[in-house]
Amino acid sequence: MRIRKAVFPVAGLGTRFLPATKASAKEMLPIVDKPLIQYAVMEAVSAGAEELVFITSNNKNSILDHFDRSYELEKTLEEKGKTETLKVVREVLPKGVSCIYIRQPEALGLGHAVACAEVAVGDEDFSVILADDLIDGRLRPCLAQMQRIYAEYGTSVIAVQRVPQEETHKYGIVEVEPIGPRLGEIRRIVEKPKPEDAPSNLAVVGRYILTPRIFKLIEATERGAGGEIQLTDAIARMLEEQTVLAYEFEGTRYDCGSKLGYLQANVEFALKHSECGEDFREWLADRAKEL
Ligand code: G1P
Repeated sequence: MRIRKAVFPVAGLGTRFLPATKASAKEMLPIVDKPLIQYAVMEAVSAGAEELVFITSNNKNSILDHFDRSYELEKTLEEKGKTETLKVVREVLPKGVSCIYIRQPEALGLGHAVACAEVAVGDEDFSVILADDLIDGRLRPCLAQMQRIYAEYGTSVIAVQRVPQEETHKYGIVEVEPIGPRLGEIRRIVEKPKPEDAPSNLAVVGRYILTPRIFKLIEATERGAGGEIQLTDAIARMLEEQTVLAYEFEGTRYDCGSKLGYLQANVEFALKHSECGEDFREWLADRAKEL
């Protein structure tokens, strides 16, 4: 069983990165030389996705352009004999993968954004990836790890990680009954609880494999935390009908929706970069001594 469709909610405003995000998409902010959304797409494709569904809003045209062919650029690179660069440009969207773009008419939250994907997803299990959460998977990408769990259990799987108790108010928080290594059945899920109300410190990060039942449940979900239609609240209803698993992925997650996480991701990915990694490491070590 393979998840063929991946949904990318990319309609958010990115206010934390203003003015950089005033006229362009926050998902296009680069980590070294690739935009965040490209890492998210690479992860989905590596887990077997072949149809990418982007839930967009205005100011997001750069995402459409990024995954489209650029004949002028390709022609110029070809004429100049820049074959390596041409390859990089052509491989932004891997072969055999197609994109669908759907507008979210109003900024009503993550649950609402996911519901907008129903026309493209239909009656299939699907994944949701939040590009803000950049995950450097250990051994294999996070979604590919989740895909293995899904293949075994055939039910919804949500990626989680432990966070400091004082940060529970930033996340969906789950209470689980352990059923295996790194794996538990979710008993309860709450959106952004205060530390004193949180059922645990296991936080949802931006990777979900969901059954299409979620669409009907979102429809029946009222506005919740922050006045938005929360995906977390629809998942809470799902628990009454279906098994939903929480999986503690192996790897490092960077919260690229925050300045600190974004900078950390850039440093870590720069250190590993094939072209500039070594020089950057040297420079960084010298700089660290000065500090
Ligand atoms: C969203 C979800 C939240 C989840 C988080 C992960 O919140 O609503 O449950 O823990 O993503 O990044 P947001 O960060 O969009 O406020």
